[in-house]
Amino acid sequence: MTKILLLGSTGQLGSILTQLFLQLSNFNISNPTSSECDLSSEKSIINYLYNKKFDILINCAAFTNVDLAEEKVKLSNIINSLSLKFLCDNLNQDCSILHISTDYVFDGNNNVPYLETDFCRPLSQYGKSKHEGEKILNLYNRRILVVRTAGLYSYKGHNFLTKIVSKIKNNESISVIRNQYTSTTSALDLSNFIYQIIISKKIYSLEKKLNIFHYVNDGNISWFKFALEICKIYEYKKKIEALDYSRYKFIAKRPQYSVLNNSKLKNYFNVSINNFDNSLKNCIYKFEK
Ligand SMILES: NC(=O)c1ccc[n+]([C@@H]2O[C@H](COP(=O)([O-])OP(=O)(O)OC[C@H]3O[C@@H](n4cnc5c(N)ncnc54)[C@H](OP(=O)(O)O)[C@@H]3O)[C@@H](O)[C@H]2O)c1
Repeated sequence: MTKILLLGSTGQLGSILTQLFLQLSNFNISNPTSSECDLSSEKSIINYLYNKKFDILINCAAFTNVDLAEEKVKLSNIINSLSLKFLCDNLNQDCSILHISTDYVFDGNNNVPYLETDFCRPLSQYGKSKHEGEKILNLYNRRILVVRTAGLYSYKGHNFLTKIVSKIKNNESISVIRNQYTSTTSALDLSNFIYQIIISKKIYSLEKKLNIFHYVNDGNISWFKFALEICKIYEYKKKIEALDYSRYKFIAKRPQYSVLNNSKLKNYFNVSINNFDNSLKNCIYKFEK
């Protein structure tokens, strides 16, 4: 029986993963709520982990409100970075860790997709706190897989897709930045990848150290193009207003170009990854079901 601790099981990614693992009888999944295992409190983490042993921690929990993080600096630092020290110090030594990180560790000044080895220079407090989290994990002699993803969306929760679909359904006007480039990632696809490498035990082939990989859907696009694709599927006829990145008033600064190169992950795990348009269609199909 493989024992999994899944944190963040109410979120976009965590909720899909919980459903996947609950179907399997040879996996025992513990998915505490954020009050049962509160990552902002060392005491809560210690109390929750007391006398428990796990084979794998899947950490999908995070302080994900990028704008609010500018205000809640201390809280976002504890949840996105310091909590990883509390977890590593209190989990049984043979527990592997799969942690999710972000494209926001980069500054967006590249013009080719970011590699795992590229220099990190986060622009926002959220990005800094996630980068600090990676640095903390690097201090531990455990099997740690950090999956950096970008533009994560699902058929539920707060994300770009649900925002645009809500505007379409309410016949509201839509405006999107035309020259901000990203990779998008379907939470369904990323969950399936995580599920597959765990049930196939491929995760155990990684060395006992920090191993960083990028998982995003194929196809680098602007948010404007992604919005157009959504509107096309819904046959939304109104014109979308194109905003300019340099003139857009961000609360937290976002990278202008945060396309991630996913070749290392495809080669290492020998997996194929869907193109963004197919994944978007699959997700919308699920959304409308
Ligand atoms: N969304 C994106 O576009 C994006 C892009 C790149 C990377 N990522 C990364 O992908 C991962 C998953 O993101 P997501 O979009 O699925 O997140 P999400 O939907 O915002 O969910 C966040 C999860 O974290 C939990 N959480 C928040 N504060 C907590 C605390 N103090 N203690 C314990 N749990 C807490 C939440 O629990 P409650 O519901 O109880 O608050 C929720 O289950 C995160 O690591 C994120 O940084 C996201």
